[in-house]
Amino acid sequence: MEITNILTEAINNQTPISFSKYGDGEFFCANSCDGVNCDMDPYTFKKKKGLIESFQYMVNEVPNSYMGIWNYEKTQSDFWEGLTTKKIKWAKYHTIIMDNDNVDNKVSLYKSIKYSTMKKIYICNPLMIKAKLLLNIDYMVHVPFNNWFDSYFDELMNVLKKIIRKDEKYIIITSAGMGAKILICELSKLFPNNIYLDFGSAIDKICTKKTSRGWEPSYEVLMSLLKDLISQKDWNDPKYDIVYEEAKKKMGIHLGETIEANKSKIVKPLFNEDWYSQHQIDNLTSLLKSVSSLHGNIIEIGCWEGKSTINLANNCYPEILICNDTWLGNVNESIITGVEHITLKILKERDVYSIFIDNMNSQTQKNYKIVKEDCIAWLTNYDGFIKFIHIDASHEYESVLKTIELVLPKMVRGGIICGDDYLTSNINRHDLHGGVERAVKELLPNFKNINNLWYWFKE
Ligand SMILES: C[S@@+](CC[C@H](N)C(=O)[O-])C[C@H]1O[C@@H](n2cnc3c(N)ncnc32)[C@H](O)[C@@H]1O
Repeated sequence: MEITNILTEAINNQTPISFSKYGDGEFFCANSCDGVNCDMDPYTFKKKKGLIESFQYMVNEVPNSYMGIWNYEKTQSDFWEGLTTKKIKWAKYHTIIMDNDNVDNKVSLYKSIKYSTMKKIYICNPLMIKAKLLLNIDYMVHVPFNNWFDSYFDELMNVLKKIIRKDEKYIIITSAGMGAKILICELSKLFPNNIYLDFGSAIDKICTKKTSRGWEPSYEVLMSLLKDLISQKDWNDPKYDIVYEEAKKKMGIHLGETIEANKSKIVKPLFNEDWYSQHQIDNLTSLLKSVSSLHGNIIEIGCWEGKSTINLANNCYPEILICNDTWLGNVNESIITGVEHITLKILKERDVYSIFIDNMNSQTQKNYKIVKEDCIAWLTNYDGFIKFIHIDASHEYESVLKTIELVLPKMVRGGIICGDDYLTSNINRHDLHGGVERAVKELLPNFKNINNLWYWFKE
């Protein structure tokens, strides 16, 4: 059933209600499928448990709670129905999404949100900034583009708990992937008087011009449908041009891709963190290729889940890449700064080493060798010759300096030492004692850098 008008009425009367969409991604994740959804959000055990428990709680305990389902697909509805004791209030998945059905009702819903006197909170990725104009949002709370749930959920809850007052009613809107369903559930427990609307990608296109669903009305049609909500002058401000450009690169394509990926069981690499941009990977590749005719070993220090590592292995094949990491996180950096590094926090919850192995085995020709040891201890005793070494471990000055000192005498002529975080761990980072920049400047005077990537050739 399409509940667009029911939602509008609830907003006009300030009656608590919730609408959460459980689509293909949620179904596959709750069923322990391997893989990722359309936003490259991996199916993890924590997410599976969260999705199942939140579905049960919303149906069994929350009175005015509707669950969106895609085309009422029987395998999926049977699965969800088997989990609950109460009858599920199923609603059409597209209740909020602009398509060709009941467009006027959807425009009315958007208007009721925009002009409601209730405070509005929108949880979304940073590119959805124009939603603030579209729906008069009071608080924009940002989450990463994907996979924020496993590592960021508690922090997000703390942010929201500081904003939401128990004596006030809010409309809380989410466009935050699979974790949004669990978030709505946890917020409903603490703040049952609010209205919760899981928008998903419903307003992606009007806000970013990016097609994330593949079949929705064109941007021009959406503009004309929503004209009463949009002030042309503010809406077309050129300052938003960057949003459209970034959205092309960062926002996902839905449905078709997910289903195909699950059907064909293509094994995609799993990177929970994006600590190495594609642009920088391209530059790293060029450096590696420039030493292909030399003799010597190829090494990476600091591999994590293998984003840069996979690229290096594939671009040096059939040569072997030596992968050095403790998989214990940036311990020295934490000691120097006095602040627990994000890698240490993540490692308490996730088996990063296993993800690294899976990624390397599924994405490379297995032309790699692992040295699971502290880099300083290992390099002190290492007696091989090196033609290429990429350093991306702890970022404080002392570690980087010592690593370079140990590597330098082992470099062959024409060989390259390079590393990440030249800009992010710069000389003004007193917490890192001057970091990567200070160490590189002191030991390798002729170094160069392309943004965050620094490199040096042995003459
Ligand atoms: C920023 S991550 C590397 C990111 C990776 N290059 C990528 O593309 O995603 C830093 C890694 O360095 C490792 N590390 C930190 N200190 C180390 C040390 N002393 N020896 C070896 N590895 C270390 C950590 O365990 C972590 O996996």
